[in-house]
Amino acid sequence: MPSLHLALILLSGTVMALQNPGAQVSIAGWHLQSTHAAAGDLAAWSLPHANVSKWYRISGPATVLGGLLENNAHNETDLFYSDHLAGLNKSDFGVPWLYREEFSLSPFLADQHLLLQTHGISSKADIFFNGIQIASSDIQKGSYAGHTYELTPHVLVGQNALLIKAYPTSYRDDFALGWVDWNPHPPDSGTGVWRNVELKLTGPVSISSPRVTTNFTSDQSASPVKVTVKTDVQNYGDSPVDVTLRGSIHSPDSAKTIDFSQLVHLPARSNSTVSLNATINNPQIWWPATWGAQPLYNVSLDASLPSGAVSDVAPLTNFGIRHVVSALNSHNDVAFTVNGHPFHVRGAGYAPDIFLRFDIKRLENIFQYVLDLGLNTVRLEGKQEHPELYDLADRMGLMLIAGWECCDKWEAWAYNDDSPGTLWQNQDYAIAHASMLHEAEMMQPHPSLLAFLVGSDYWPDERATDLYLSALRSMDWPNPIIASASMRGHPSQLPPSGMKMDGPYDWVPPNYWYGDSLGAAFGFGSEQGAGVGTPELSSLRKFLSDADLKSLWSSPNAGQYHLAPANGVFHTRKIFNNALAKRYGPAKSLEEYVFKAQVMDYEATRAEFEAFAARQNASRPATGVVYWMLNSAWPSLHWQLFDYYLQTAGAFFGAKAGARQEHVAFDYESRSVYLINHSLKTSGTRHITVDLITSNGTQLLLREVTTETTPLSSKEVIQIPEIATLLTTKTIGFLRLTLSDTSPKPLSRNVYWITAQNDVLDWDNSEWYATPVTTFADFTALSALKPATVVASAAASTDDAARVSGLTSVEVTLENQSDVPAFFIRLAIVDSKTREEIAPVFWSDNYVTLFPRERLRLVVRVREGSQWVVTTRVGGGKEQDVKSK
Ligand SMILES: *[C@@H]1O[C@H](CO)[C@@H](O)[C@H](O)[C@H]1NC(C)=O
Ligand SMILES: *[C@@H]1O[C@H](CO)[C@@H](O)[C@H](O)[C@H]1NC(C)=O
Ligand SMILES: *[C@@H]1O[C@H](CO)[C@@H](O)[C@H](O)[C@H]1NC(C)=O
Ligand SMILES: *[C@@H]1O[C@H](CO)[C@@H](O)[C@H](O)[C@H]1NC(C)=O
Ligand SMILES: *[C@@H]1O[C@H](CO)[C@@H](O)[C@H](O)[C@H]1NC(C)=O
Ligand SMILES: *[C@@H]1O[C@H](CO)[C@@H](O)[C@H](O)[C@H]1NC(C)=O
Ligand SMILES: *[C@@H]1O[C@H](CO)[C@@H](O)[C@H](O)[C@H]1NC(C)=O
Ligand SMILES: *[C@@H]1O[C@H](CO)[C@@H](O)[C@H](O)[C@H]1NC(C)=O
Ligand SMILES: *[C@@H]1O[C@H](CO)[C@@H](O)[C@H](O)[C@H]1NC(C)=O
Repeated sequence: MPSLHLALILLSGTVMALQNPGAQVSIAGWHLQSTHAAAGDLAAWSLPHANVSKWYRISGPATVLGGLLENNAHNETDLFYSDHLAGLNKSDFGVPWLYREEFSLSPFLADQHLLLQTHGISSKADIFFNGIQIASSDIQKGSYAGHTYELTPHVLVGQNALLIKAYPTSYRDDFALGWVDWNPHPPDSGTGVWRNVELKLTGPVSISSPRVTTNFTSDQSASPVKVTVKTDVQNYGDSPVDVTLRGSIHSPDSAKTIDFSQLVHLPARSNSTVSLNATINNPQIWWPATWGAQPLYNVSLDASLPSGAVSDVAPLTNFGIRHVVSALNSHNDVAFTVNGHPFHVRGAGYAPDIFLRFDIKRLENIFQYVLDLGLNTVRLEGKQEHPELYDLADRMGLMLIAGWECCDKWEAWAYNDDSPGTLWQNQDYAIAHASMLHEAEMMQPHPSLLAFLVGSDYWPDERATDLYLSALRSMDWPNPIIASASMRGHPSQLPPSGMKMDGPYDWVPPNYWYGDSLGAAFGFGSEQGAGVGTPELSSLRKFLSDADLKSLWSSPNAGQYHLAPANGVFHTRKIFNNALAKRYGPAKSLEEYVFKAQVMDYEATRAEFEAFAARQNASRPATGVVYWMLNSAWPSLHWQLFDYYLQTAGAFFGAKAGARQEHVAFDYESRSVYLINHSLKTSGTRHITVDLITSNGTQLLLREVTTETTPLSSKEVIQIPEIATLLTTKTIGFLRLTLSDTSPKPLSRNVYWITAQNDVLDWDNSEWYATPVTTFADFTALSALKPATVVASAAASTDDAARVSGLTSVEVTLENQSDVPAFFIRLAIVDSKTREEIAPVFWSDNYVTLFPRERLRLVVRVREGSQWVVTTRVGGGKEQDVKSK
């Protein structure tokens, strides 16, 4: 037979050759249309040369609404404004939508196979190829269920057409990507071909993407590492065949390779799993970012026939040498280790885009913020996104806790009385199994994976657990498998999760975290926080109408569309607003409200991360915490550390202070100071200064201590019981803690505003979402602070590290020239022409409080090329431009 080959020509004009077996291409774009508009016989639409001039065109996978936005059928700015999203006509999305693409194929060899690979379609789909239905929605069902279909018998020489009919998604009935109470639900419920669809050419024998495991356990031993590479081999042919599997492992940043091969006999139409072994003598270990480097090995693998012809080539696969373990400690709390060291999880919950649009640049900015915050983990609750996310986390050294989402269909078992989902039927178990197989295969080699949670709020039933575990095992899952993110129960095959889900999700005062029940700092909190994350005014004005803004500050109990949906407890800012009014005094303007909200947000996130850090090795250790949440799916008023426009505000800088690698923190309850060390190796002598002044600048106390710091631990270093007596009822104290080693620049500097009387919590009347406060701390005197004169200057700095990573670095110096403290100074960097705030933006610190006569040097980094102006705002005052030198 002549050596013909198959070529795939995409409509864009690019020719991507599927010339050789093993080649694989993604469908690069689709025509998209509603079945309302594209009436008629579906099989006909799936024949080549159909007239789709009236269809939308999308440049890759997308949900229906994501696709419509790409086509400007809706305008994002408009859709995100006020409650405009609610105005979309839902019935447009109550019908199936069609995704269609044509490509041209040349003839190929008789023993070659053309395969179609899906990676999940929401929520289910019929698939047609050249007029033939090749899959029905009984099989292609579930947003995470990937399948492989043979196209070979139906291939036409010349034009070919693929048509996918995606059925409307129901969060109750389908295994989809639901939002529960996170945000208003997108009116299309995420329906569509949201992940890649691929064509693959293989010879008679195909191999799967390699799975990699190692026997590495701890960096304490210098012994060689044994690497096992596994692949599933399938013989499509009608005759037995001997194939040679040949692979190489490439060492990070070097030309060194380790080659291995194995001959495998495969009977006709059979499957087999093959393990290949290699030894790496001087392994380079992969670390989470705060602990070290991220060397990545890669493995290539192919299968060849006795003739020498290549039958299939596996995708080049990265892996890292590292080891993750979880175990329950003596308190039945889960604790993780990475490479043999206790890994204190400081994380936050991730939200994808509300329309599931995936932008790797945006994700890189988000992950950069995670690192800038000092966090080390991101939790993906049922939002597993795309393979690129895992590559990025591997490269950036971020740990991921992946898992299934709560509620909806995913947890619809009889014992879960919280879920509105329809109870699982026989066929649902098959979908769940296919989903688990697919996601486990995608995630398996990635060193960034810390765990997979097979349940969130509830644990899977016995039958589901059985299927999940067998899928994970068959994919050689090397990481912890955890029953759920809560302690409500567990299946017999898995131990209790050791993760608590006891709230809070709404506002609690800073001293909450130093308590000893519910979400306070002990054990592992899988999703919790004081519900904060108020954007600054510049962002609020982008998505709130004048009426919304008015209601935000002047109607404290009003529902807000940009919070959780109306049927839940998180649709208002009632609890937060009541506390704001009681603690800081009612706001008399929008500006004052937003300022006070930032103060509340800062206190809230700082205290949570500090308390979990201070107690990392307490008698009942705080083993980890996942802040609820990292970011939002669309412009939101809560549950985020930075806003949808990637602007940072109070919540961000509170968290950033609280999660510092080496830090000193104030325990509001015991009135003591903790020295915190999250590093793996740093130890030595440390000086701590505690400085307490009144709001008029009078010094009440100065205390210093010299001590030793040790890695991965915290300890109490100073008690300041006098706070109760030094401060009279109405005064506010400012407490400054500084930590330094021998260098002049402090390692940490941290200022609190405190009162003699903390907030009083009514623990016994706690709800699942918050613990009420009976008496509020009184900070109203802050409104009567004497104005301080702060002189600021900004200058472009010659920061080489920044320049290398393509960032502009600006140094800002602040000097308080008064004898009174300068409270909560906000710095911003804006484009000098548009006056828009630049994002993403990386400040060394922000929302800082300066002591009398104190000078402080801060650094901000932004992407190069921006013409910038720095602005400053002291307390609730006016924003002013900073002179630049
Ligand atoms: C496709 O349909 C459009 C409008 O319905 C029409 O203008 C166009 O001529 C058609 N193209 C072909 C090739 O038939
Ligand atoms: C969307 O609407 C905004 C505000 O009305 C407008 O400024 C912007 O240009 C529009 N975008 C597009 C892509 O039409
Ligand atoms: C919504 O769309 C449906 C068909 O998609 C149409 O029949 C109905 O009139 C539309 N409703 C409104 C309010 O536009
Ligand atoms: C891993 O395997 C290698 C090679 O077989 C061996 O030398 C090493 O001791 C093993 N390491 C552990 C921790 O078992
Ligand atoms: C595989 O690893 C080698 C060595 O680090 C590197 O040079 C090469 O670029 C890697 N390949 C890919 C596609 O990442
Ligand atoms: C081989 O594996 C494929 C994919 O998992 C499956 O569809 C097929 O039925 C298997 N064939 C045999 C003979 O087991
Ligand atoms: C590779 O290692 C695995 C696991 O240790 C073992 O089961 C298998 O037999 C080994 N394969 C070869 C070819 O040595
Ligand atoms: C935590 O570790 C530090 C440093 O090793 C030690 O001083 C402290 O006592 C430990 N805390 C507890 C409760 O054991
Ligand atoms: C400053 O405050 C302290 C404590 O409240 C008070 O004793 C003192 O008189 C005040 N000094 C001034 C100058 O107001």
